[in-house]
Amino acid sequence: MELYEWMSPDSLPRPDARQRFRRRLLAWYRVHGRDLPWRRTSDPYHILVSEVMLQQTQVDRVLPKYHEWLERYPSLEALASAAVGDVTETWRPLGYNIRPRRLHAIARESMARYGGELPSDEATLLSFKGIGAYTAGAIRSFAFHQRAAILDTNVARVLFRVFVKRGDPKAHAMRKHLWALSETLVPHKHVFDFNQALMDLGATVCSARKPKCEECPMATMCRSYPWKPLKAAAARA
Ligand code: ADE
Repeated sequence: MELYEWMSPDSLPRPDARQRFRRRLLAWYRVHGRDLPWRRTSDPYHILVSEVMLQQTQVDRVLPKYHEWLERYPSLEALASAAVGDVTETWRPLGYNIRPRRLHAIARESMARYGGELPSDEATLLSFKGIGAYTAGAIRSFAFHQRAAILDTNVARVLFRVFVKRGDPKAHAMRKHLWALSETLVPHKHVFDFNQALMDLGATVCSARKPKCEECPMATMCRSYPWKPLKAAAARA
């Protein structure tokens, strides 16, 4: 058993635990990762479109819209020169909201101020309305292969369960700690796969309700893994 009981809940994992987590996650992802179209590209514009769509919409609903959108607006330039009314109309099946306007504004600003390219540095990405800490990390790691951390609901749940277990996962201090965990864990190489894998583990195995712990590559190092019922079953046998 590899329970990291020597770690206090707010400490960060030691290098051997980080390495183990990375190795297991990447090995799991090679077999079980979902094949999604935005994982077959590092085009910054494609990554931007997918991540903004995925901010509030499930993968299944995003898939057809992602393809349609890129056919209609194949580049930042094409999006920037479209009329905002067309853009919001194209978006409409994904819900009435501010995201298409923000995407359009990012495209226009990238054309006007950043030489027609989506900027790659954290501060500039965060200066855009519609790009928060999660989306900036996703763009930096997926489009620019920078060693940038991400933290969305799925990732937060995985890290909380594996490394923390106790406390309020939504508390401000906990959020900060979970960001620190994500930053410590993200590897120097394979950042793209690592971050995609974290999201997949949270979405498909370490789900909010009924996590599939028996399928989880982190089971033996997870603070929340339910050992007791297994032990009790073994004792009964
Ligand atoms: N949710 C947000 N970003 C995602 C991604 N890149 N893949 C799957 N789900 C996501």
